[in-house]
Amino acid sequence: MNITIIGTGYVGLVTGACLAELGNNVFCLDLDQRKVDLLNAGGMPIYEPGLKEIIERNVEEGRLRFSSDVEASVAFANVQYIAVGTPSGEDGSADLQYVLAAGRAIGRHMRDFKVIVDKSTVPVGTADKVRQAILEQLAERGMAHLQYSVISNPEFLKEGAAVDDFMRPDRIVLGVDDDAQGRHALAIMRELYAPFNRNHERTRVMDVRSAEFTKYAANAMLATRISFMNELANLADRVGADIELVRQGIGSDPRIGYSFLYAGTGYGGSCFPKDVRALAQTAAEYGHEMKILAAVDEVNQRQKNVLADKVFEQFGPDLRGLSFAVWGLAFKPNTDDMREAPSRTLIGALLRAGAGVAAHDPVAVEQTRLALAEDFADRPELLQNIRYVDKPMEAVQGADALIVVTEWKNYRSPHLAALKTALMNPLIIDGRNLYDPHQVTAAGFTYLAVGRNN
Ligand code: UGA
Repeated sequence: MNITIIGTGYVGLVTGACLAELGNNVFCLDLDQRKVDLLNAGGMPIYEPGLKEIIERNVEEGRLRFSSDVEASVAFANVQYIAVGTPSGEDGSADLQYVLAAGRAIGRHMRDFKVIVDKSTVPVGTADKVRQAILEQLAERGMAHLQYSVISNPEFLKEGAAVDDFMRPDRIVLGVDDDAQGRHALAIMRELYAPFNRNHERTRVMDVRSAEFTKYAANAMLATRISFMNELANLADRVGADIELVRQGIGSDPRIGYSFLYAGTGYGGSCFPKDVRALAQTAAEYGHEMKILAAVDEVNQRQKNVLADKVFEQFGPDLRGLSFAVWGLAFKPNTDDMREAPSRTLIGALLRAGAGVAAHDPVAVEQTRLALAEDFADRPELLQNIRYVDKPMEAVQGADALIVVTEWKNYRSPHLAALKTALMNPLIIDGRNLYDPHQVTAAGFTYLAVGRNN
């Protein structure tokens, strides 16, 4: 099947590459010519395990191409995915300008039946707006008789595991209209996704609004679990309980389950923070206040300070003359994404209090430089006090404490004796509860984790 993907961001690139890998011919459109050139030259705008290999293979075999030619992209395929960005507006609502621009481009150039697949995370009701945007363009061209169907097919990809999530989905949500065009669109999408449904049917067909809502409901539920666990962890610290034991104690109840119950330094990334705020904003637009979502967001903001708070408790508010090793910068392992990363909050607090920082991350250093340049636009001179090192142990040398922010695998079993020799103080502040408190304290460390100070 021929497929067009509009937008080669995270979602678009993974979707395009994986659909090509399944044997389809995929045309990836992006208006950013530099990005198109980079991709055509074999470069990668993001780091995602396994993606580069798939792209290379499919470009070489002629099933995947990148271009900025809008007219050609519309002509190429009956199925047009919209996978452009939906940044947060001032009030937390999703900014739909790129989504609607994509709809207008399709309306300007289409000549035959199109299925327009909303893949970007968009508020309930967006498909109607895209439909309208297309119709206006068709009407202007005197082609309002052309048929099309706008459907919702939200993505459930996790960064760092996106290829695997795409190739082995636990569900495929399709929101379609119950009319002739909608049924035609559904038949096409079922054929496209048939490889995922061989063993059992994973497709959930529903109306468009429910599909749009499902995406936000999933992320809001997951974010709520994390904020709830972080609240419990902060209380566990005060009452002398260990949140890790509590996690195991409650996770064994199948109604609760083990996954997504890890307390830490707060959730980051491009999805949870944005989607929680956008859903609250949608509720507000409909005159409904979602108190839980406001609390989830507020708890998360506070949780991002948990590591800096522990530093200040130990060393006081003035950190001049002190230096800290930071392990992990990306908002989670296996990605270089620094959007809303808790490390930014920590490093912001440390540098502003006068400390020096030696930071390590396996892949996110370049993105960190860009992110911190933004965060320190008011005081760029403070960035002289951060240095990036190639090996985790280099960061620790002479530092007053080790602070673990991201749970990359290579931080999981440090050589404790070497660590103790390298540090000025035997202090580990662990934002991911990676270590066994008994083992680390037995090795002579002071160990401050999240919800484990019993
Ligand atoms: C999330 C969802 O998990 C995906 O299902 C969804 O498709 C995606 O958003 C999206 O909307 O595009 P992602 O943001 O890539 O995926 O990352 P997650 O692995 O879900 O982690 C999000 C944040 O929660 C990270 O900062 C992570 O450290 C934190 N987290 C996760 C916890 O603090 N505790 C946990 O138990 C789990």
